[in-house]
Amino acid sequence: MRDDELVEAARAAAERSYSPYSGFRVGAALVAADGTVYTAANVENASYPVSSCAEATVVNYAAAQGVRKIDTVAVACIDADDPEDAYPCGRCRQIMAEFDVERVLVTTAGGDVRVHTLDELLPHRFRLR
Ligand code: THU
Repeated sequence: MRDDELVEAARAAAERSYSPYSGFRVGAALVAADGTVYTAANVENASYPVSSCAEATVVNYAAAQGVRKIDTVAVACIDADDPEDAYPCGRCRQIMAEFDVERVLVTTAGGDVRVHTLDELLPHRFRLR
């Protein structure tokens, strides 16, 4: 799948976000090494810390389907105008690292897309060998 298609899939997923508390809709779409695409959105909870970020939801869902290598994750924050407000949180970066995500595409309401490697977003990350 092309990058622009993956970003569009993340934007569509963001429309399905359940975020009544923050009003901040986030979608994520990933391409696994075998080419399969998975999408998800952030899902909040009245007990706020129980909420799940979009990236965590989609990566853990794909892993539960058997995925062990992820090439690219697109993240769409359709309620953010500034790209600096659209980056994955630290926990999601660590979750993406588990399945060797190579590239992360960050996009906003306006559609600006920034492309990063996971090495840029989470250098010197923790791993077990
Ligand atoms: N959120 C994500 O889905 N991904 C991130 O990387 C950062 C934050 C969600 C969590 C919560 O539902 C809302 O955005 C506001 O924090």
